Amino acid sequence: MKAQEIKKYQFLEGYSKLSKEDQIKAIEAYSINARLADEFDSFRHTDPELQKRFEEFSENTVSNFHFPYSIAPNFLINNELYHIPMVIEESSVVAAASKSAKFWAQFGGFQSTVLSTTKIGQVHFIWHGKTELLQEHFAELQEILIEGTNHITENMRKRGGGIQSVSLVDMTGEMTGYYQLKAEFETADSMGANFINSCLEEFSTILKVWISNSGHFYNSDKNVEIIMAILSNYTPDCVVETNVSAPLKAFENIDDELNAHAFVDKFSKAVEIARIDPHRAATHNKGIFNGIDAVALATGNDFRAIEACGHTYASRNGSYTSLTKLEVQNDIFTYTLKIPIALGTVGGLTNLHPLAMRSLELLRQPNAEKLMQIASAVGLANNFSAVKSLITKGIQVGHMKMHLLNILNTFHASSDEKAAAEKHFMQEKVSYNAVRKFIENSRIKKYNGNPN
Ligand code: MEV
Repeated sequence: MKAQEIKKYQFLEGYSKLSKEDQIKAIEAYSINARLADEFDSFRHTDPELQKRFEEFSENTVSNFHFPYSIAPNFLINNELYHIPMVIEESSVVAAASKSAKFWAQFGGFQSTVLSTTKIGQVHFIWHGKTELLQEHFAELQEILIEGTNHITENMRKRGGGIQSVSLVDMTGEMTGYYQLKAEFETADSMGANFINSCLEEFSTILKVWISNSGHFYNSDKNVEIIMAILSNYTPDCVVETNVSAPLKAFENIDDELNAHAFVDKFSKAVEIARIDPHRAATHNKGIFNGIDAVALATGNDFRAIEACGHTYASRNGSYTSLTKLEVQNDIFTYTLKIPIALGTVGGLTNLHPLAMRSLELLRQPNAEKLMQIASAVGLANNFSAVKSLITKGIQVGHMKMHLLNILNTFHASSDEKAAAEKHFMQEKVSYNAVRKFIENSRIKKYNGNPN
């Protein structure tokens, strides 16, 4: 396929086989933007080696997509100070995290404990033999599974990880002939997806051979249908618990209108609403993931896996609820986030993306458990800031203040216009229309020879 031959709205056959240049030409021909190639080019890295590395992360890479890389300073976590890298586009998130970090640093900061780092994988299979026979001989299979994956687990075992257990789960009550091999893994400081999936695929082969060759089953039951072998992103035991705590008088000056007692009372109602109501819980938890995802991205971790796990965990008791809990006892306010987060500090992008590597250096090369503590502290910080704003002045004041520059950029505001707008909107409410009017007026004034 030649790029020139491509007509609009035509399937792009063999796209991945095209040269980079032709991939770009092809997509430019398809686009309404005739200068797409130049634009793509302008976002490429000036160092060809690095650009090549970015391109090799994924297929059909035609450019880079820039996101802000920010620092949320002054996080005190388990008595250690961190200035935390965050990758996020939402204007107010880093400011909110930093504000919260500063507030809580006065009261000892964040206390964080990893409860476990166990990961889970499953082989889903269909077999129509006698369940009791499978159960009876399962111990033999367990041994063969562990032995048969020694070549895969060898390095991981040296690093303190490996397969912790393999069990048989009878799911025949849900679907005819459906069973699982459910395995628990320790993956040391890696997120471990490749390791787990390799073990599981080997389990599938071993299972098939064992069922067909062992003398335990009738000839008619020698076939097993492997449906799939894959890790589960739901890792309810890979959990970190992080809290902040302060005497009630800490909140005396937190708001112009609410005193400490009123603030804590309203905060606890907001947390209770997030516990009761799934609509609010989703937004409450989204505020937590604002922080966690930003740390995950900055350190080259898979934020989709983390989100999938967190939301599943939030529904573990049958209805979706919040991930935080508030306790007020003896005039002490303790706010806790308990969340499973499977993070890695070796493997994957963590050692390939240059900025992920810098992030881990900034965090003093944490192991996976430390990174879980850091990410959960940022999640709790963001959630605390969000709920505090919501129950006091609302989030729009702060959010729109931070969003002001984005709005100004949509009007291609000059540096002078931005400076004037920032000054003006210190006193005024920011909205898209208010900014539009401000820019229009200042341009009219300037046109008429009056820049002020
Ligand atoms: C916005 O990104 C996050 C919040 O909506 C979270 C919350 O409502 O708790 C502010």
